[in-house]
Amino acid sequence: MAQSIRAANPTAAHGEGVEYDHRGSSTAYTKWLLSQDVPIHGGYYVQDARQLERAFWDLRGCPAAIVNLEGHKSVEQIYVLEVPPGESIPPFHIALEELIYVLDGQGIATVWAEGHPKVSFEFQKHSYFRIPTNHHYQLSNTRGDQPVLTLHVNLMPLALHSNRNTDYIFNNPLINPTELYKEEDGKGFYSAEARAVAQGDRVRWYSNFFPDLTIFDKLDADTTPGRLSYHAGIWFPDCAFSTELMVLPSQRFRNAHRHAAGTTIVGIQEAQGVVVMWPEGGEPVVAPWQEGAIFVPPYHWYHLHMNTGAVENRQLRIRAPRPGANPDADPQRMLPLTALDPSIRQIFEGELAKNGLTSLMPEEAYTNPNYEWDPAWLKQD
Ligand SMILES: [Fe+2]
Repeated sequence: MAQSIRAANPTAAHGEGVEYDHRGSSTAYTKWLLSQDVPIHGGYYVQDARQLERAFWDLRGCPAAIVNLEGHKSVEQIYVLEVPPGESIPPFHIALEELIYVLDGQGIATVWAEGHPKVSFEFQKHSYFRIPTNHHYQLSNTRGDQPVLTLHVNLMPLALHSNRNTDYIFNNPLINPTELYKEEDGKGFYSAEARAVAQGDRVRWYSNFFPDLTIFDKLDADTTPGRLSYHAGIWFPDCAFSTELMVLPSQRFRNAHRHAAGTTIVGIQEAQGVVVMWPEGGEPVVAPWQEGAIFVPPYHWYHLHMNTGAVENRQLRIRAPRPGANPDADPQRMLPLTALDPSIRQIFEGELAKNGLTSLMPEEAYTNPNYEWDPAWLKQD
């Protein structure tokens, strides 16, 4: 049954999530999307992925919602699945790797390659793991009183740009058994133990399963002027995506910047804030930020995150590969605070006032282009 694409928020525009190529033709992904019997949410952001309207999706055999935001632009696909209390949903495989973040609940994931042993592990709210390409996986809810909600990310739109045959995506047996198992014969689960590897002045955590993304507390301070915040690399071995935790302390915001499409950002802890985004010369769109919020920066739109609450704002950033992007070719990629329209600052201060808080942004930084940011500022309150 063909479905229409609906807006996830009242600011949806530009075709409400339908993707077109530069000549105005619908993409192979859009054609597939419109053939699916599941709610499809478009627009610029999702306020809370846990609250999206869901309906039974025949492909997955459970309630679901597809999120197809303006900034995904034929790069990433994301969707939410609901595993009802005490149930298991049907096994599934796809010729794409999938990253899964657990929005809510507790359960068991069972993963296996055709003809190889099954591997099971427990997950909980805030877990994050990767399903290797074409591996079967089944999700089960181990609680009887609440659903499991999982957020899935893959590169299906990008894949359909290079090969329009959906049978290749859904009926493809090719696997690399060493992605899940230590040996070619399928013996021994590939180590799920996290390890930290220094990459220059930053640390990356490598694993194929992260039990709880909220417990990482020794993060690196990014000391780039105007971009001060805490970071940790969260990486899966041999994965096309790069993912990162970003923690923005309260009553602060980062400089605006812009870049290519396909970065999904998810709020993973209780927080209060807004994301402000605008195309050059255009009106800003203000999106609420909280746990469960999803924001995908629209292609080449300026955007910035504001923490207008009393606690830190922790985000998971899932970046698709961007082989054609060249950030250095855009001299206006970073917008200094001194070039920020005063109305954007007013949005920040107005949102803070609603919470009885005031800005911790240094006043001089708005006017002095050579302002020297002190990393210790991150810890001030
Ligand atoms: Fe960004």
